[in-house]
Order: sequence, then C-alpha cells, then structure tokens
Amino acid sequence: MIELKHIYKTYGGELHSLRDLSFTVEQGEFVFLVGPSGAGKTTLFKLISAYEKSSSGDLVVSGHNLKELRVGQVPFFRRQIGFIFQNYKLLKTKSVYENIELPLVILGEKENIRKEKVLEIIEKVGLQDHADQFPDFLSGGEQQRVAIARALIHQPKLIIADEPTGNLDPALSDSMMNLFYEFSKTGITFLVATHDHRLLQNKKARVLSLDKGVLVEDRIA
Ligand SMILES: Nc1ncnc2c1ncn2[C@@H]1O[C@H](COP(=O)(O)OP(=O)(O)OP(=O)(O)O)[C@@H](O)[C@H]1O
Ligand SMILES: [Mg+2]
Repeated sequence: MIELKHIYKTYGGELHSLRDLSFTVEQGEFVFLVGPSGAGKTTLFKLISAYEKSSSGDLVVSGHNLKELRVGQVPFFRRQIGFIFQNYKLLKTKSVYENIELPLVILGEKENIRKEKVLEIIEKVGLQDHADQFPDFLSGGEQQRVAIARALIHQPKLIIADEPTGNLDPALSDSMMNLFYEFSKTGITFLVATHDHRLLQNKKARVLSLDKGVLVEDRIA
C-alpha cells in the first residue's frame, strides 16, 4: 500500500524534516505514528498524500510512484485517501448531511447515489437523527463522527488522521478509535498520528516512532 525507500525531506535549510525513512505499510494495516513535536509526522503525511514532494528517495502509494505523479493526476490520486484533522474542519453553514455528502458532490456523483451512500454511512456512525443539524449544535463526539463519515464516504483505501483525538476527552477518544478499528477490519489502511500514548494501549497495532525526522522504532504495541 505504502512503500518508502530512503525518503528525505528538507525545506531548503540544513535541517532534514525527514531523514532516510524506509518502511512498508500493507493494505489494511493499522499504524500509529508517534514522536515529539517537530518529529516530522505531519510532513510525512504531506508526502504520502502528494501535498509535497520528497527531496530524495522513492515513495510509492497504492501503486503510484509519487515522483512521477503529474500535477493533473494529483486530484485523482487523492480520491483514494480520506483525511481526518484535529479540528475536523466541518463547514458551519452546512448540515450534517451536507457535510458528509460534500466529497461526493466534488466527485460529481449523481444525487440518488449520493443519498444512498450518505444514508448508509450516517447510520454506521450513529448520526441518523442529526442529519439536518448544523455542526455548531453538535457535541464534540458527534462532530468527530461527522468528520469520520465525511472521510469515509468516498470509500478511500487509506485514512490519514493527524492528531484526530487532540481535542477530545478520553471517552470520546476511545469511541473514535473504536470506529477506526471497525472500519479498519474492512480493509482500509489507517495512519494515525498521535501524542496520546494512552491510545496505543487499547488495541494491538503497529507503532512507528519518529524523532527529528528519523524512524527510531517500528514495533507492535
Ligand atoms: N513548510 C515548512 N517550511 C519549513 N519547515 C517546515 C515546514 N513544515 C514543517 N517544517 C519543519 O519540519 C519539521 C517537522 O515538522 P512536522 O510538522 O512534520 O512535525 P510534527 O511531528 O507533525 O509535529 P507536531 O506534533 O507538533 O504536529 C519541523 O522542524 C518543522 O519546523
Ligand atoms: Mg503535526
């Protein structure tokens, strides 16, 4: 699914944000990415999702060598990825239903297909009774489930979550992780960056530790 070979990333200066990273992630694997602030976690996500290019090395994601990906191909490439951010980035002027539907609108899906898919996922995340509400009127946990539904609606092969539980209390973090694990059983690959070491204790998962851009540990926790 993801293969890095000697990946380096510098932003012009002497410092390497990523230094000689080599590892492989299989389809369906659940991987935590940990490491102190500035370790390079978000940078790695930017490379994997083709928002930025590596300075050197080879990166293959879902069969695409990202060095060879042309600008025009990037939107198509990114359709395979679902993103979940710390602050969710929900649209306040759109309802729960519309927020979840949005990726399909962008993809140009037909109305009846959109409806079918939204109704299916909205039920999976338990928000069917909140479809017409606006994000500001939802609890933190409900907003988080909207973000998950929106990331999954276009059936991505890979979910990239950058500090998804950063603003949540332990109970909500656990419920989010449980949803992640459930979807991961369907073969979706998960990459989850977190500072919250408590999350790692819940289930068996692979943990990659970065420090100053270097992969210092690759273990099953
Ligand atoms: N656009 C940029 N220009 C210059 N340097 C950058 C840029 N983006 C990131 N960096 C540097 O790359 C290093 C890694 O940053 P990154 O954001 O990947 O860390 P992180 O592990 O995600 O940290 P955090 O846990 O705080 O989110 C940092 O030293 C940062 O200053
Ligand atoms: Mg970061």
